Amino acid sequence: MAEYDYDVLVIGAGPGGYVAAIRAAQLGLKTACAESRDTLGGTCLNVGCIPSKAMLHASEYFNAASNGTMAEMGIEVTPKLDLDKMHAQRRDAVEGLTKGVAFLFKKNKVDWKNGHATFQDAHTVKVGDETVTAKNIIIATGSSVTPLPGVEVDNDKQVVVDSTGALELNAVPKKMVVIGGGVIGLELGSVWCRLGAQVTVVEYLDKLLPGMDDDVRKEAAKIFKKQGMELRLSTKVTGCTVKGKKATLTLEPAAGGDEETLEADCVLVSIGRRPNTDGLGLENIGLETNQRGQIEIDHDFRTKVDGVWAIGDVVPGPMLAHKAEDEGIACAENVAGQTGIVNHDLIPGVVYTWPEFAGVGLTQEEAIEKMGGDKSKVKVGKFPMMANSRAKTNHEPDGFVKIIAEAESDRVLGVWAIASVAGTMIAQATQAMEFGATSEDIAYTCHAHPTHSEAIKEAAMAVQGKPIHV
Ligand code: FAD
Ligand code: NAI
Repeated sequence: MAEYDYDVLVIGAGPGGYVAAIRAAQLGLKTACAESRDTLGGTCLNVGCIPSKAMLHASEYFNAASNGTMAEMGIEVTPKLDLDKMHAQRRDAVEGLTKGVAFLFKKNKVDWKNGHATFQDAHTVKVGDETVTAKNIIIATGSSVTPLPGVEVDNDKQVVVDSTGALELNAVPKKMVVIGGGVIGLELGSVWCRLGAQVTVVEYLDKLLPGMDDDVRKEAAKIFKKQGMELRLSTKVTGCTVKGKKATLTLEPAAGGDEETLEADCVLVSIGRRPNTDGLGLENIGLETNQRGQIEIDHDFRTKVDGVWAIGDVVPGPMLAHKAEDEGIACAENVAGQTGIVNHDLIPGVVYTWPEFAGVGLTQEEAIEKMGGDKSKVKVGKFPMMANSRAKTNHEPDGFVKIIAEAESDRVLGVWAIASVAGTMIAQATQAMEFGATSEDIAYTCHAHPTHSEAIKEAAMAVQGKPIHV
Protein backbone atom coordinates (compact mmCIF):
# COMPACT_ATOMS: atom_id res chain seq x y z
CA MET A 1 0.00 0.00 0.00
CA ALA A 2 1.22 3.47 -0.85
CA GLU A 3 2.62 5.42 2.08
CA TYR A 4 0.57 8.51 1.16
CA ASP A 5 -2.81 9.09 -0.53
CA TYR A 6 -1.16 11.40 -3.09
CA ASP A 7 2.25 12.28 -4.44
CA VAL A 8 1.18 15.94 -4.42
CA LEU A 9 -1.53 17.91 -2.64
CA VAL A 10 -1.88 21.51 -3.75
CA ILE A 11 -3.68 23.87 -1.35
CA GLY A 12 -5.53 26.57 -3.31
CA ALA A 13 -6.84 26.44 -6.88
CA GLY A 14 -5.89 29.92 -8.07
CA PRO A 15 -3.61 30.43 -11.09
CA GLY A 16 -0.67 29.24 -8.98
CA GLY A 17 -2.36 26.19 -7.49
CA TYR A 18 -4.46 24.90 -10.38
CA VAL A 19 -1.57 25.22 -12.82
CA ALA A 20 0.80 23.45 -10.38
CA ALA A 21 -1.75 20.64 -9.95
CA ILE A 22 -2.21 20.16 -13.69
CA ARG A 23 1.54 20.19 -14.37
CA ALA A 24 2.18 17.72 -11.51
CA ALA A 25 -0.47 15.39 -12.95
CA GLN A 26 0.97 15.79 -16.45
CA LEU A 27 4.31 14.66 -15.02
CA GLY A 28 2.73 11.44 -13.78
CA LEU A 29 2.26 12.40 -10.12
CA LYS A 30 -0.94 11.40 -8.34
CA THR A 31 -2.36 14.83 -7.52
CA ALA A 32 -5.16 16.43 -5.51
CA CYS A 33 -6.02 20.09 -5.05
CA ALA A 34 -7.84 21.50 -2.01
CA GLU A 35 -9.95 24.60 -2.60
CA SER A 36 -12.41 26.13 -0.16
CA ARG A 37 -14.33 28.13 -2.78
CA ASP A 38 -17.11 26.36 -4.64
CA THR A 39 -15.47 27.15 -7.95
CA LEU A 40 -11.90 26.75 -9.16
CA GLY A 41 -9.62 29.52 -10.45
CA GLY A 42 -8.95 31.44 -7.23
CA THR A 43 -8.99 35.21 -6.91
CA CYS A 44 -7.94 35.71 -10.51
CA LEU A 45 -10.80 33.92 -12.23
CA ASN A 46 -13.53 34.50 -9.66
CA VAL A 47 -13.07 38.05 -8.37
CA GLY A 48 -9.87 39.40 -9.90
CA CYS A 49 -8.23 39.48 -13.31
CA ILE A 50 -11.11 38.06 -15.31
CA PRO A 51 -14.20 39.86 -13.97
CA SER A 52 -12.29 43.15 -13.78
CA LYS A 53 -11.22 42.81 -17.40
CA ALA A 54 -14.78 41.93 -18.42
CA MET A 55 -15.98 45.19 -16.86
CA LEU A 56 -13.04 47.16 -18.26
CA HIS A 57 -13.67 45.85 -21.76
CA ALA A 58 -17.41 46.56 -21.71
CA SER A 59 -17.04 49.98 -20.09
CA GLU A 60 -14.40 50.89 -22.67
CA TYR A 61 -16.97 50.39 -25.43
CA PHE A 62 -19.53 52.43 -23.50
CA ASN A 63 -16.99 55.18 -23.03
CA ALA A 64 -15.98 55.22 -26.69
CA ALA A 65 -19.64 55.60 -27.58
CA SER A 66 -20.35 58.30 -25.02
CA ASN A 67 -17.18 60.40 -24.97
CA GLY A 68 -17.03 61.27 -28.65
CA THR A 69 -14.35 58.75 -29.67
CA MET A 70 -16.75 56.87 -31.96
CA ALA A 71 -18.31 60.09 -33.25
CA GLU A 72 -14.81 61.20 -34.24
CA MET A 73 -14.73 58.22 -36.59
CA GLY A 74 -18.13 58.99 -38.07
CA ILE A 75 -20.20 56.74 -35.84
CA GLU A 76 -22.95 58.69 -34.15
CA VAL A 77 -24.52 56.74 -31.28
CA THR A 78 -26.18 57.57 -28.00
CA PRO A 79 -25.39 54.66 -25.71
CA LYS A 80 -27.79 53.42 -23.08
CA LEU A 81 -26.32 51.54 -20.18
CA ASP A 82 -27.82 48.17 -19.27
CA LEU A 83 -25.74 47.49 -16.18
CA ASP A 84 -27.49 44.18 -15.42
CA LYS A 85 -26.49 42.89 -18.83
CA MET A 86 -22.94 44.15 -18.38
CA HIS A 87 -22.76 42.23 -15.11
CA ALA A 88 -24.30 39.17 -16.74
CA GLN A 89 -21.60 39.02 -19.42
CA ARG A 90 -18.97 39.38 -16.66
CA ARG A 91 -20.49 36.48 -14.75
CA ASP A 92 -20.63 34.43 -17.95
CA ALA A 93 -16.93 35.01 -18.56
CA VAL A 94 -16.13 33.90 -15.01
CA GLU A 95 -18.39 30.86 -15.20
CA GLY A 96 -16.95 29.75 -18.51
CA LEU A 97 -13.38 29.97 -17.30
CA THR A 98 -13.87 28.45 -13.84
CA LYS A 99 -15.74 25.53 -15.41
CA GLY A 100 -12.89 25.25 -17.88
CA VAL A 101 -10.49 24.65 -15.00
CA ALA A 102 -12.82 21.97 -13.59
CA PHE A 103 -12.76 20.32 -17.02
CA LEU A 104 -8.96 20.47 -17.11
CA PHE A 105 -8.80 18.88 -13.64
CA LYS A 106 -10.97 15.98 -14.88
CA LYS A 107 -8.98 15.63 -18.07
CA ASN A 108 -5.70 15.49 -16.18
CA LYS A 109 -7.09 13.36 -13.31
CA VAL A 110 -6.53 15.94 -10.60
CA ASP A 111 -8.85 15.26 -7.63
CA TRP A 112 -10.54 18.40 -6.32
CA LYS A 113 -11.09 18.34 -2.55
CA ASN A 114 -13.64 21.05 -1.83
CA GLY A 115 -13.00 22.50 1.65
CA HIS A 116 -10.69 24.56 3.83
CA ALA A 117 -7.30 22.92 4.29
CA THR A 118 -5.42 22.86 7.59
CA PHE A 119 -2.07 21.18 8.17
CA GLN A 120 -2.03 18.43 10.81
CA ASP A 121 1.61 17.64 10.11
CA ALA A 122 3.96 18.12 7.16
CA HIS A 123 2.31 15.32 5.16
CA THR A 124 -1.24 15.37 6.53
CA VAL A 125 -3.90 17.95 5.80
CA LYS A 126 -7.48 18.13 6.95
CA VAL A 127 -9.73 19.32 4.11
CA GLY A 128 -13.16 19.92 5.58
CA ASP A 129 -13.96 16.58 7.25
CA GLU A 130 -11.53 14.58 5.14
CA THR A 131 -7.94 13.77 6.03
CA VAL A 132 -5.58 13.72 3.07
CA THR A 133 -1.94 12.64 3.14
CA ALA A 134 0.63 13.55 0.50
CA LYS A 135 4.35 13.17 0.01
CA ASN A 136 4.58 16.76 -1.19
CA ILE A 137 2.32 19.67 -0.34
CA ILE A 138 2.30 22.91 -2.33
CA ILE A 139 0.84 25.94 -0.54
CA ALA A 140 -0.85 28.25 -3.06
CA THR A 141 -3.38 29.98 -0.83
CA GLY A 142 -3.07 33.40 -2.47
CA SER A 143 -3.99 36.71 -0.91
CA SER A 144 -6.90 38.84 0.30
CA VAL A 145 -7.68 42.53 0.56
CA THR A 146 -5.66 44.50 3.13
CA PRO A 147 -8.12 46.21 5.47
CA LEU A 148 -7.80 49.91 6.29
CA PRO A 149 -8.37 50.61 9.98
CA GLY A 150 -11.29 52.98 10.45
CA VAL A 151 -12.80 52.23 7.04
CA GLU A 152 -14.96 49.15 7.39
CA VAL A 153 -15.80 47.29 4.18
CA ASP A 154 -19.36 45.99 3.80
CA ASN A 155 -19.78 44.68 0.27
CA ASP A 156 -23.47 43.84 0.81
CA LYS A 157 -24.38 47.47 1.53
CA GLN A 158 -22.43 48.68 -1.53
CA VAL A 159 -21.28 51.87 0.20
CA VAL A 160 -17.77 50.94 1.39
CA VAL A 161 -16.51 48.12 -0.79
CA ASP A 162 -13.35 46.23 -1.67
CA SER A 163 -12.47 45.07 -5.19
CA THR A 164 -14.97 42.21 -5.00
CA GLY A 165 -17.78 44.57 -4.02
CA ALA A 166 -16.72 47.13 -6.64
CA LEU A 167 -17.24 44.52 -9.35
CA GLU A 168 -20.82 43.96 -8.26
CA LEU A 169 -22.27 47.47 -7.81
CA ASN A 170 -25.88 47.38 -8.99
CA ALA A 171 -25.98 51.08 -9.84
CA VAL A 172 -23.41 53.61 -11.03
CA PRO A 173 -22.44 55.69 -8.00
CA LYS A 174 -22.70 59.44 -8.42
CA LYS A 175 -19.56 60.11 -6.41
CA MET A 176 -16.98 57.40 -5.87
CA VAL A 177 -13.85 57.74 -3.76
CA VAL A 178 -11.07 55.28 -4.41
CA ILE A 179 -8.60 54.86 -1.56
CA GLY A 180 -5.26 53.85 -3.10
CA GLY A 181 -4.02 54.90 -6.53
CA GLY A 182 -2.54 51.52 -7.36
CA VAL A 183 -3.57 48.92 -9.89
CA ILE A 184 -6.99 48.00 -8.49
CA GLY A 185 -7.94 51.59 -7.73
CA LEU A 186 -7.16 52.78 -11.24
CA GLU A 187 -8.68 49.78 -13.05
CA LEU A 188 -11.94 49.68 -11.11
CA GLY A 189 -12.01 53.46 -10.73
CA SER A 190 -11.79 53.62 -14.55
CA VAL A 191 -14.72 51.23 -14.95
CA TRP A 192 -17.08 53.37 -12.89
CA CYS A 193 -15.66 56.66 -14.18
CA ARG A 194 -16.40 55.51 -17.75
CA LEU A 195 -19.93 54.54 -16.76
CA GLY A 196 -20.58 58.01 -15.34
CA ALA A 197 -19.32 58.17 -11.75
CA GLN A 198 -17.38 61.19 -10.55
CA VAL A 199 -14.23 59.49 -9.27
CA THR A 200 -11.74 60.87 -6.76
CA VAL A 201 -8.58 58.87 -6.08
CA VAL A 202 -6.94 59.42 -2.70
CA GLU A 203 -3.34 58.24 -2.75
CA TYR A 204 -0.92 58.34 0.16
CA LEU A 205 2.19 58.74 -2.01
CA ASP A 206 2.96 61.72 -4.26
CA LYS A 207 2.45 59.64 -7.42
CA LEU A 208 0.14 56.89 -8.70
CA LEU A 209 1.22 53.32 -9.48
CA PRO A 210 4.09 52.62 -7.10
CA GLY A 211 6.71 50.29 -8.55
CA MET A 212 6.44 51.66 -12.07
CA ASP A 213 9.00 53.92 -13.77
CA ASP A 214 8.78 57.54 -12.59
CA ASP A 215 8.04 58.95 -16.07
CA VAL A 216 5.19 56.46 -16.40
CA ARG A 217 3.81 57.42 -13.00
CA LYS A 218 3.90 61.14 -13.86
CA GLU A 219 2.20 60.50 -17.20
CA ALA A 220 -0.44 58.36 -15.47
CA ALA A 221 -1.51 61.34 -13.37
CA LYS A 222 -1.90 63.51 -16.48
CA ILE A 223 -3.87 60.85 -18.36
CA PHE A 224 -6.31 60.00 -15.57
CA LYS A 225 -6.90 63.69 -14.82
CA LYS A 226 -7.65 64.25 -18.49
CA GLN A 227 -10.19 61.43 -18.29
CA GLY A 228 -12.00 63.27 -15.52
CA MET A 229 -10.66 61.62 -12.38
CA GLU A 230 -9.80 63.88 -9.48
CA LEU A 231 -6.48 62.94 -7.90
CA ARG A 232 -5.69 63.67 -4.27
CA LEU A 233 -2.03 62.70 -4.01
CA SER A 234 0.08 62.80 -0.81
CA THR A 235 -3.15 62.42 1.12
CA LYS A 236 -4.29 59.85 3.65
CA VAL A 237 -7.73 58.74 4.76
CA THR A 238 -8.05 58.78 8.53
CA GLY A 239 -11.61 57.63 9.01
CA CYS A 240 -15.03 56.94 7.52
CA THR A 241 -18.59 57.14 8.77
CA VAL A 242 -21.53 55.67 6.91
CA LYS A 243 -25.08 56.96 7.23
CA GLY A 244 -27.60 55.18 5.06
CA LYS A 245 -26.24 55.20 1.53
CA LYS A 246 -23.66 57.95 2.10
CA ALA A 247 -20.09 57.79 3.36
CA THR A 248 -18.13 60.66 4.83
CA LEU A 249 -14.38 60.27 4.76
CA THR A 250 -11.89 62.26 6.78
CA LEU A 251 -8.65 63.06 4.98
CA GLU A 252 -5.43 64.78 5.88
CA PRO A 253 -2.14 65.46 4.11
CA ALA A 254 0.15 62.41 4.28
CA ALA A 255 2.74 64.52 6.08
CA GLY A 256 0.14 65.66 8.63
CA GLY A 257 -1.92 68.84 8.69
CA ASP A 258 -5.50 70.06 8.60
CA GLU A 259 -8.26 67.52 8.35
CA GLU A 260 -11.03 67.78 5.76
CA THR A 261 -14.04 65.69 4.83
CA LEU A 262 -15.15 64.14 1.56
CA GLU A 263 -18.58 62.71 0.81
CA ALA A 264 -19.20 59.72 -1.41
CA ASP A 265 -21.93 57.32 -2.48
CA CYS A 266 -19.34 54.61 -2.80
CA VAL A 267 -15.85 54.14 -1.35
CA LEU A 268 -13.45 51.57 -2.79
CA VAL A 269 -10.71 50.40 -0.45
CA SER A 270 -7.77 49.27 -2.58
CA ILE A 271 -4.60 49.75 -0.56
CA GLY A 272 -2.99 46.41 -1.33
CA ARG A 273 -3.40 42.71 -0.60
CA ARG A 274 -1.94 40.42 2.05
CA PRO A 275 -1.06 36.71 1.98
CA ASN A 276 -3.63 34.11 3.10
CA THR A 277 -2.27 31.93 5.89
CA ASP A 278 -4.99 32.20 8.53
CA GLY A 279 -6.36 28.83 9.58
CA LEU A 280 -3.80 26.99 7.49
CA GLY A 281 -2.20 25.43 10.56
CA LEU A 282 1.33 26.52 9.73
CA GLU A 283 2.10 26.31 13.45
CA ASN A 284 1.47 22.55 13.26
CA ILE A 285 4.40 22.14 10.89
CA GLY A 286 6.71 24.71 12.50
CA LEU A 287 6.51 27.16 9.58
CA GLU A 288 6.52 30.87 10.35
CA THR A 289 5.68 33.76 8.07
CA ASN A 290 7.94 36.78 7.56
CA GLN A 291 7.13 40.34 8.65
CA ARG A 292 4.90 40.85 5.61
CA GLY A 293 2.97 37.66 6.38
CA GLN A 294 4.56 35.80 3.45
CA ILE A 295 5.93 32.27 3.42
CA GLU A 296 9.65 32.35 2.63
CA ILE A 297 10.94 29.94 0.01
CA ASP A 298 14.24 29.12 -1.64
CA HIS A 299 15.00 29.37 -5.36
CA ASP A 300 13.24 26.03 -5.96
CA PHE A 301 10.02 27.06 -4.08
CA ARG A 302 10.85 24.85 -1.07
CA THR A 303 9.87 26.14 2.36
CA LYS A 304 12.11 25.26 5.27
CA VAL A 305 9.86 22.26 6.04
CA ASP A 306 10.83 19.18 4.05
CA GLY A 307 8.16 18.23 1.48
CA VAL A 308 6.29 21.55 1.81
CA TRP A 309 6.55 24.03 -1.07
CA ALA A 310 4.91 27.43 -1.69
CA ILE A 311 4.07 29.64 -4.70
CA GLY A 312 2.04 32.64 -5.85
CA ASP A 313 0.72 35.58 -3.85
CA VAL A 314 1.50 33.85 -0.54
CA VAL A 315 5.26 34.07 -1.20
CA PRO A 316 7.41 37.19 -1.79
CA GLY A 317 7.31 38.94 -5.17
CA PRO A 318 4.71 40.75 -7.23
CA MET A 319 1.14 39.57 -6.66
CA LEU A 320 0.38 38.69 -10.26
CA ALA A 321 -1.45 35.79 -11.86
CA HIS A 322 1.20 35.05 -14.49
CA LYS A 323 3.94 35.03 -11.83
CA ALA A 324 1.84 32.56 -9.81
CA GLU A 325 1.24 30.39 -12.90
CA ASP A 326 4.91 30.26 -13.86
CA GLU A 327 5.83 29.41 -10.29
CA GLY A 328 3.17 26.68 -10.33
CA ILE A 329 4.72 25.04 -13.37
CA ALA A 330 8.29 25.36 -12.12
CA CYS A 331 7.42 24.15 -8.63
CA ALA A 332 5.59 21.05 -9.94
CA GLU A 333 8.59 20.30 -12.15
CA ASN A 334 10.90 20.56 -9.14
CA VAL A 335 8.62 18.29 -7.11
CA ALA A 336 8.90 15.77 -9.97
CA GLY A 337 12.69 15.96 -9.83
CA GLN A 338 13.09 18.22 -12.85
CA THR A 339 14.64 21.71 -12.93
CA GLY A 340 11.88 24.29 -12.82
CA ILE A 341 13.01 27.90 -12.93
CA VAL A 342 11.27 31.28 -12.97
CA ASN A 343 13.22 34.40 -13.92
CA HIS A 344 11.89 36.74 -11.28
CA ASP A 345 13.79 39.68 -12.79
CA LEU A 346 11.52 39.61 -15.83
CA ILE A 347 7.91 39.49 -14.61
CA PRO A 348 5.92 41.97 -16.73
CA GLY A 349 3.31 44.13 -15.05
CA VAL A 350 0.28 45.59 -16.83
CA VAL A 351 -2.45 47.98 -15.75
CA TYR A 352 -5.44 47.38 -18.02
CA THR A 353 -6.81 50.90 -18.12
CA TRP A 354 -7.15 53.10 -21.20
CA PRO A 355 -4.45 53.38 -22.34
CA GLU A 356 -2.70 50.40 -20.77
CA PHE A 357 0.43 50.87 -18.65
CA ALA A 358 3.02 48.12 -18.86
CA GLY A 359 6.58 47.48 -17.85
CA VAL A 360 9.23 44.82 -17.44
CA GLY A 361 12.66 44.85 -15.84
CA LEU A 362 14.15 47.88 -14.11
CA THR A 363 12.81 51.39 -13.85
CA GLN A 364 15.23 54.15 -14.83
CA GLU A 365 15.68 54.95 -11.13
CA GLU A 366 16.49 51.31 -10.30
CA ALA A 367 18.87 51.03 -13.25
CA ILE A 368 20.84 54.09 -12.12
CA GLU A 369 20.92 52.76 -8.58
CA LYS A 370 22.21 49.42 -9.88
CA MET A 371 25.01 51.30 -11.64
CA GLY A 372 26.12 52.81 -8.34
CA GLY A 373 24.18 56.04 -8.91
CA ASP A 374 26.16 56.89 -12.07
CA LYS A 375 23.59 58.25 -14.55
CA SER A 376 26.08 58.09 -17.43
CA LYS A 377 26.08 54.29 -17.21
CA VAL A 378 22.43 54.16 -18.30
CA LYS A 379 21.05 55.08 -21.73
CA VAL A 380 17.39 55.86 -22.30
CA GLY A 381 15.35 56.01 -25.51
CA LYS A 382 11.79 57.29 -25.59
CA PHE A 383 9.26 57.37 -28.41
CA PRO A 384 5.82 59.03 -28.16
CA MET A 385 2.75 57.09 -29.31
CA MET A 386 1.64 60.33 -30.97
CA ALA A 387 4.35 59.69 -33.57
CA ASN A 388 3.33 56.05 -34.10
CA SER A 389 1.26 55.83 -37.28
CA ARG A 390 -1.17 53.19 -36.02
CA ALA A 391 -1.85 54.89 -32.69
CA LYS A 392 -2.29 58.21 -34.48
CA THR A 393 -4.68 56.68 -37.03
CA ASN A 394 -6.67 55.04 -34.25
CA HIS A 395 -7.01 58.36 -32.36
CA GLU A 396 -4.84 57.07 -29.48
CA PRO A 397 -2.30 59.85 -28.96
CA ASP A 398 -1.49 59.24 -25.29
CA GLY A 399 1.60 57.44 -24.10
CA PHE A 400 5.11 56.47 -25.04
CA VAL A 401 7.58 53.62 -25.06
CA LYS A 402 10.72 53.99 -22.98
CA ILE A 403 13.69 51.67 -23.18
CA ILE A 404 16.44 51.68 -20.59
CA ALA A 405 19.77 50.08 -21.50
CA GLU A 406 23.17 49.66 -19.89
CA ALA A 407 25.43 52.26 -21.61
CA GLU A 408 28.48 50.04 -21.88
CA SER A 409 26.96 46.77 -23.10
CA ASP A 410 23.75 48.23 -24.64
CA ARG A 411 21.89 45.39 -22.92
CA VAL A 412 18.24 46.28 -22.28
CA LEU A 413 17.50 46.64 -18.56
CA GLY A 414 13.90 47.77 -18.66
CA VAL A 415 11.03 48.58 -21.04
CA TRP A 416 8.00 50.72 -20.17
CA ALA A 417 5.02 51.38 -22.37
CA ILE A 418 1.85 53.43 -22.21
CA ALA A 419 -0.34 52.56 -25.18
CA SER A 420 -3.77 51.14 -25.94
CA VAL A 421 -2.19 47.68 -26.34
CA ALA A 422 0.82 48.08 -24.04
CA GLY A 423 -0.04 44.79 -22.30
CA THR A 424 0.38 42.92 -25.57
CA MET A 425 3.43 44.94 -26.62
CA ILE A 426 5.31 44.18 -23.41
CA ALA A 427 5.49 40.46 -24.26
CA GLN A 428 7.92 41.22 -27.06
CA ALA A 429 10.10 43.28 -24.74
CA THR A 430 10.05 40.54 -22.10
CA GLN A 431 11.08 37.92 -24.63
CA ALA A 432 13.87 40.11 -26.00
CA MET A 433 15.19 40.70 -22.49
CA GLU A 434 14.91 36.99 -21.66
CA PHE A 435 17.28 36.40 -24.59
CA GLY A 436 19.63 39.14 -23.33
CA ALA A 437 18.83 41.55 -26.17
CA THR A 438 20.63 44.84 -26.71
CA SER A 439 18.69 47.91 -27.81
CA GLU A 440 20.45 47.52 -31.16
CA ASP A 441 19.01 44.00 -31.50
CA ILE A 442 15.51 45.45 -31.11
CA ALA A 443 16.22 48.45 -33.34
CA TYR A 444 17.34 46.16 -36.18
CA THR A 445 14.47 43.68 -35.83
CA CYS A 446 11.87 44.13 -38.57
CA HIS A 447 8.49 45.13 -37.09
CA ALA A 448 5.27 44.94 -39.11
CA HIS A 449 3.77 48.25 -40.22
CA PRO A 450 1.46 49.80 -39.15
CA THR A 451 1.54 48.42 -35.59
CA HIS A 452 1.82 49.92 -32.14
CA SER A 453 4.87 47.68 -31.66
CA GLU A 454 6.85 49.83 -34.05
CA ALA A 455 7.07 52.26 -31.14
CA ILE A 456 9.25 49.68 -29.36
CA LYS A 457 11.58 49.55 -32.35
CA GLU A 458 11.69 53.35 -32.52
CA ALA A 459 12.36 53.66 -28.76
CA ALA A 460 15.25 51.22 -29.26
CA MET A 461 16.46 53.37 -32.16
CA ALA A 462 16.21 56.36 -29.81
CA VAL A 463 18.56 54.58 -27.39
CA GLN A 464 20.92 54.39 -30.35
CA GLY A 465 20.28 58.11 -30.88
CA LYS A 466 18.53 57.81 -34.26
CA PRO A 467 14.76 57.30 -34.33
CA ILE A 468 13.12 57.99 -37.71
CA HIS A 469 9.73 59.44 -36.87
CA VAL A 470 10.53 62.07 -34.23
P1 FAD B 1 -5.33 33.07 -5.52
O1 FAD B 1 -5.77 33.32 -6.89
O2 FAD B 1 -5.68 34.07 -4.47
O3 FAD B 1 -5.94 31.65 -5.14
C1 FAD B 1 -5.79 31.09 -3.87
C2 FAD B 1 -6.95 30.17 -3.63
O4 FAD B 1 -6.68 29.44 -2.44
C3 FAD B 1 -8.28 30.87 -3.40
O5 FAD B 1 -9.24 30.39 -4.30
C4 FAD B 1 -8.64 30.54 -1.96
O6 FAD B 1 -10.04 30.31 -1.81
C5 FAD B 1 -7.88 29.25 -1.73
N1 FAD B 1 -7.51 29.03 -0.33
C6 FAD B 1 -6.89 29.89 0.51
N2 FAD B 1 -6.64 29.30 1.69
C7 FAD B 1 -7.13 28.05 1.59
C8 FAD B 1 -7.17 26.94 2.48
N3 FAD B 1 -6.61 26.99 3.68
N4 FAD B 1 -7.77 25.80 2.05
C9 FAD B 1 -8.31 25.71 0.80
N5 FAD B 1 -8.28 26.72 -0.08
C10 FAD B 1 -7.69 27.87 0.32
N6 FAD B 1 -3.14 39.71 -11.65
C11 FAD B 1 -2.73 39.77 -12.93
O7 FAD B 1 -1.67 39.21 -13.24
N7 FAD B 1 -3.47 40.40 -13.89
C12 FAD B 1 -4.61 41.02 -13.60
O8 FAD B 1 -5.25 41.59 -14.48
C13 FAD B 1 -5.08 41.01 -12.27
N8 FAD B 1 -6.23 41.61 -11.93
C14 FAD B 1 -6.66 41.56 -10.64
C15 FAD B 1 -7.83 42.22 -10.31
C16 FAD B 1 -8.31 42.20 -9.02
C17 FAD B 1 -9.59 42.92 -8.69
C18 FAD B 1 -7.59 41.47 -8.03
C19 FAD B 1 -8.12 41.39 -6.62
C20 FAD B 1 -6.42 40.82 -8.33
C21 FAD B 1 -5.93 40.87 -9.64
N9 FAD B 1 -4.74 40.25 -10.01
C22 FAD B 1 -4.30 40.32 -11.31
C23 FAD B 1 -3.93 39.51 -9.03
C24 FAD B 1 -4.18 37.99 -9.18
O9 FAD B 1 -5.55 37.74 -8.99
C25 FAD B 1 -3.35 37.22 -8.16
O10 FAD B 1 -2.00 37.58 -8.27
C26 FAD B 1 -3.49 35.73 -8.40
O11 FAD B 1 -4.83 35.32 -8.30
C27 FAD B 1 -2.66 34.96 -7.38
O12 FAD B 1 -2.79 33.61 -7.62
P2 FAD B 1 -2.61 32.53 -6.45
O13 FAD B 1 -2.82 31.23 -7.09
O14 FAD B 1 -1.35 32.78 -5.72
O15 FAD B 1 -3.76 32.85 -5.40
P1 NAI C 1 -1.33 48.38 -4.95
O1 NAI C 1 -0.21 48.02 -4.06
O2 NAI C 1 -1.18 48.29 -6.41
O3 NAI C 1 -1.78 49.88 -4.64
C1 NAI C 1 -2.16 50.30 -3.38
C2 NAI C 1 -2.00 51.80 -3.33
O4 NAI C 1 -2.61 52.26 -2.15
C3 NAI C 1 -0.56 52.26 -3.31
O5 NAI C 1 -0.38 53.25 -4.28
C4 NAI C 1 -0.37 52.79 -1.90
O6 NAI C 1 0.56 53.83 -1.82
C5 NAI C 1 -1.77 53.25 -1.58
N1 NAI C 1 -2.09 53.30 -0.15
C6 NAI C 1 -1.75 52.43 0.82
N2 NAI C 1 -2.28 52.81 1.99
C7 NAI C 1 -3.00 53.94 1.75
C8 NAI C 1 -3.80 54.78 2.54
N3 NAI C 1 -3.98 54.55 3.85
N4 NAI C 1 -4.38 55.86 1.96
C9 NAI C 1 -4.21 56.11 0.63
N5 NAI C 1 -3.46 55.33 -0.16
C10 NAI C 1 -2.88 54.25 0.37
O7 NAI C 1 -2.54 47.49 -4.41
P2 NAI C 1 -3.96 47.21 -5.04
O8 NAI C 1 -4.29 48.20 -6.08
O9 NAI C 1 -4.88 47.02 -3.91
O10 NAI C 1 -3.72 45.81 -5.75
C11 NAI C 1 -3.32 44.67 -4.97
C12 NAI C 1 -2.54 43.70 -5.79
O11 NAI C 1 -3.35 43.11 -6.79
C13 NAI C 1 -1.38 44.37 -6.47
O12 NAI C 1 -0.21 43.83 -5.91
C14 NAI C 1 -1.47 44.00 -7.90
O13 NAI C 1 -0.30 43.41 -8.33
C15 NAI C 1 -2.61 43.00 -8.00
N6 NAI C 1 -3.44 43.41 -9.12
C16 NAI C 1 -2.91 43.34 -10.38
C17 NAI C 1 -3.61 43.78 -11.45
C18 NAI C 1 -2.99 43.73 -12.79
O14 NAI C 1 -1.99 43.04 -12.94
N7 NAI C 1 -3.52 44.41 -13.78
C19 NAI C 1 -4.96 44.33 -11.33
C20 NAI C 1 -5.41 44.41 -9.96
C21 NAI C 1 -4.67 43.94 -8.92
